[in-house]
Amino acid sequence: MANSSTESLPLLWRDDHLAILDQRLLPQEVHYIEARDYHTVTAAIRDLAVRGAPAIGIAAAYGVVLAARALGVDGPIALSQMQAALDEMEAARPTAVNLAWALRYMAQQLEQGATADELLKTALQIHQDERENNATMARHGAELIEPGSRVLTVCNTGGLATGGSGTALAVIVEAWRQERLVEAFSAETRPWFQGARLTTWELQNAGVAHRLVVDSAVPWLMKNQGIDWVIVGADRVVANGDAANKIGTYAAALAAKAHGAKTMVVIPTTTLDLNTAEGSQIPIEERSAEEITAPGGRPLAPEGTRVWNPVFDVTPAHLIDALVTERGVVLEPNREKIARLMS
Ligand code: MRU
Repeated sequence: MANSSTESLPLLWRDDHLAILDQRLLPQEVHYIEARDYHTVTAAIRDLAVRGAPAIGIAAAYGVVLAARALGVDGPIALSQMQAALDEMEAARPTAVNLAWALRYMAQQLEQGATADELLKTALQIHQDERENNATMARHGAELIEPGSRVLTVCNTGGLATGGSGTALAVIVEAWRQERLVEAFSAETRPWFQGARLTTWELQNAGVAHRLVVDSAVPWLMKNQGIDWVIVGADRVVANGDAANKIGTYAAALAAKAHGAKTMVVIPTTTLDLNTAEGSQIPIEERSAEEITAPGGRPLAPEGTRVWNPVFDVTPAHLIDALVTERGVVLEPNREKIARLMS
C-alpha cells in the first residue's frame, strides 16, 4: 500500500460504527474490523488489533460513544448506565495509561450531563488533539538530533500507534525530512514483531533509510554502527520520570548508556501518570505463553514449556536524557522538572 502517512489509518469513525484497522495482519493485509458495540472495541484492544498507548485510548473513547448510543437515550446519559462499559474497556490492557485517561475524561463528560452526540464530539476532539500534539512533539524532538545521526527505535510508535503522525517515529520522520538522519534502525520487537512488521512499513512509506535488527543485536549494533539516539515512546511515564514501554526498551537504554548514546522518550502528556510515584508501581501486562512458544500459531518450543511473558519494562529516569512532550522538552527528567512542566 503506497501511503506516505499512516496517520489516518488505524481508527476511522464512520457515522454508525468505528472501523478499526486490524494491525495483526499488517503489512500483508489491510483489513478493517467494523466495531458496532463496545465489546468489539474491548476485544480489539485486548487482542492487539489496535495497539499503541494513544490509539487504544482513542479507540476506547469511541467505544464509549457506541455504548452510549446502544442505550437509545435521547438526552443526558447517567454515568451509572455506562459504568459496565467503562470498566470492561479499562480492563482490556493495564499498562498504557492513555486508556484509563480517555475513559476518565469521557466519564467526566457524562458527569456533566453529556448526551451521546456530545460524547462523539469529545471522542473526535481527543483524536484531533492527538494529531496536533504529535506534530508539535515531532518538531521538538527533531531539534535535539544533530545532523549526521543514526538512531534506534523499539516497537511501533508511528501513526498506527497514535492516530496522529506518531510519537518517537514522528520525531524520526521529521528528523529525516530535516536531513538530520543518516539511518534509522528498528528492533524487531518480539513476540508480536511490531518493529519488524509495522515500524519498517511506516519507515518505508515515509522514505526513511532504515534497517531491521533482532532485539538481541542492540548492544552490538551500538558498538558497531555508532548509534547517537535511542528514540522510543512510552505507555506510561510516572511522576519521577520512570517510563514503561515495550519490553526491550530498558535493555536499549542500558546499552545506550554503555556506548555513549542518548535516550529520548516521546509522549503526549496524556501518557503522564502523576498519581504514580515511581516505576516499580506501574502494572506490567503479562500475556499468554503461546505468544512465545508458538509465535503466529506455529509451534516452536516443546509442549509444556513454562514462560514468563511481560510485554513492557520500565526504564528508570536516570537513563533518560530527554522527555519530549507537546508542552516542551524536559532534559534529564526528574520529579521536580516534570511537576514544573505540568504546572
Ligand atoms: O503492545 P503495544 O504494541 O500496544 O505496545 C506499544 C508500545 O509499546 C509503544 O511504544 C507505546 O504505546 C508508545 S507509542 C505510541
